[in-house]
Amino acid sequence: MLHLLLIMEKPKIIVIDYGSQYTKLLVRSLRELGYRSALLNPAQVDAYIAENETRAIVLSGSNWSVDDKGAPRIPESVLRINNEDKVPVLGVCYGMQLMAHHFGGTVMSVEGAKEYGPVTITAAKEGTNFLSPFLHTGEASVWASHGDSVSGLPDGFSVNALMPDGKTPTAMSDADRNMYGVQFHPEVKETPNGNKVFESFMEIAKCEKDWEGQDQIKEIQDVLREATDDTGNVVIGFSGGVDSTTLAALAGPVFGDRLFGFCIDHGGLRHGEVNHIKAAADAAGVQLHIEDARDRYLAALDGVEDGELRRAAFRGLYKQLFDEYIAGTDAKYILQGTIAPDLIESGADGKSEMIKTHHNVDLGFTATEVSPFSHLFKYEVRALAESFGLAEFIFNRQPFPGPGLFIRIYDGAVTPERLELVREADKQVTEILKETGDYDQIRQLVVALCTARSTGVKGDGRILDYGISIRAVVTEDYMTVKPYEFTYETIMKMSSAVTAIDGIVRMEINYTTKPPATTEYM
Ligand code: XMP
Repeated sequence: MLHLLLIMEKPKIIVIDYGSQYTKLLVRSLRELGYRSALLNPAQVDAYIAENETRAIVLSGSNWSVDDKGAPRIPESVLRINNEDKVPVLGVCYGMQLMAHHFGGTVMSVEGAKEYGPVTITAAKEGTNFLSPFLHTGEASVWASHGDSVSGLPDGFSVNALMPDGKTPTAMSDADRNMYGVQFHPEVKETPNGNKVFESFMEIAKCEKDWEGQDQIKEIQDVLREATDDTGNVVIGFSGGVDSTTLAALAGPVFGDRLFGFCIDHGGLRHGEVNHIKAAADAAGVQLHIEDARDRYLAALDGVEDGELRRAAFRGLYKQLFDEYIAGTDAKYILQGTIAPDLIESGADGKSEMIKTHHNVDLGFTATEVSPFSHLFKYEVRALAESFGLAEFIFNRQPFPGPGLFIRIYDGAVTPERLELVREADKQVTEILKETGDYDQIRQLVVALCTARSTGVKGDGRILDYGISIRAVVTEDYMTVKPYEFTYETIMKMSSAVTAIDGIVRMEINYTTKPPATTEYM
C-alpha cells in the first residue's frame, strides 16, 4: 500500500519514532503550529541528518523501558549535532527517559505508581525555563501514560515541573546542552494548551514556518496524479463517512468518470445509513455502487464470538467483495480514506502495538492502493472537507467503524435478532440525543448490546433479557477519548426508550476514558 507523505522539500525538524501510539500526534502538533517534520525510525536518522539540514529533533514516547535489552537509543548523529551545533532536542516521555539515561540520570520502573490519564503537575521553583509559558499559572493538567519515571536528573539538568507527589520530576532541561524533556504528553488534546510546549521549543529552535493547511487540497490532488497514470479505472472504498467522502470529492476532479465508489451493505449498518451514503456520494459527486451482501455477511459471521475473529471474518469477506468488484470494473487503482489512527491502531505503521485489526488496512490487493490521508487525523480531514466546500452533514459526521454493528454486540456471536436490537436501540438513542441537542456535542456515540442476560420484570412477568451500554465520547483525534457528560434527565430518557424495546431490560452508561478503554467495545 502506498502511504504517501506529502513532502515537497525535506523538513528541517525530525521526529524520531520510538513506537508510541502518540508519535504521529507529535507531527500533527508541529503541523498545527505551521511546521513540517519528518517522522523517522531511529535507524533512518543518521542518513537523514547526513543529507539534510536539521534544525530541531523530537524524541517520541515508546513501549520500551530504557533498561530493556535491545531498547532503542538516541542515534549517534543526534548527539553529535546537538553537541557540535547545539541543535535542540526535545524528549517526550520515553524520549525524556532516554535523555536522562544517556547523561547518567536514573530511570525507575515505578510499580504501583504507573501514571495513565490526567494528572496535575506543578512548576518547579527554578526560575524561567522552556515550560514557563505552559506552566504560567504554576500548575497544569496534563495527560500521562507511562510506567517508568525519571527519578534522578543527570548533572547539568534542572527540574522544571513535578508530578502530583511534589518530588518526582516530570520535566527537565539543560539550556547549555540545548536539551529539554517532558514525561507527559503535550501532543494529545487531553493536555490543554499542550501546544505551548512545542511553541516554546520552536522558539528555541528558530525554525521558519513552512506548513499551510490550505495548500493541502492541491497537494493531495498532486499526490493522486503522481501515484497513478492516465489510464485505467479507479475504485474508492466508500462508506459515506468523513474520510472516504472527502477523498472522493478531492479525487473527482483528478479522475473524472474513471472514478467509481464502491460500498458494501453488510447488514451491520445503522438505521437510515444507506440513504445517508447515497446523499454523501451525491455531495462528493462520485458514482456509487452499493453491493447488497447482507446474507453473505450473516453467513460469514455465523457463530463467531471472539471480537478479533469477527473482525478477521469481516475483513476477509470485505476483501473478497472488493476483489470481485475490481475485477468487474477492471480497475487499476484503489483509493482508501485510511487515516493515521487506523494505521497506528492496527499496527500497520510497523511500529505501534496492534490494538485492533482494521477492516481496510493492508489488505494486499493486486490493484495499486493509494491512501493519501494516511498521515492525517480525523479533525484535519474535517478541516479539509470544510475548506473544499463540503456540507456540514459530511464534515461533522461522527465516525462509524467499517465492521459496523457487528462489533457492537459484545461478547457473543452475531445473530439477526441481536443485530435488530442494537440497531433499534441506536436509532432510539440517536433520536433522543438529536432532540436534546447532545448529539452535536458528542464526537462519537457507541450503542452496544451486551449479550449477558439479566433479570427484570415487565408487566407481571419475570424476564431475562439483554442490556444496552451507551458510550458517548469527546475527542479530536480518537487516539484518546473522554466520556461525554449527560444530564440525569437525558440518561433517563434514553433508559426509558431502550428498555421499552422487547428484548432489552437494562441500560448502562459506559464512563471510561481511552486509555484504557477503546472507543469500540471489540
Ligand atoms: P477504538 O475503538 O480503537 O476506535 O478507540 C478508534 C476509532 O476507530 C474506529 N474504528 C474503526 N474504523 N474500521 C474503521 O473504519 C475498523 O475496523 C475500526 N475499528 C474502530 C472507531 O469507531 C473509532 O472512531
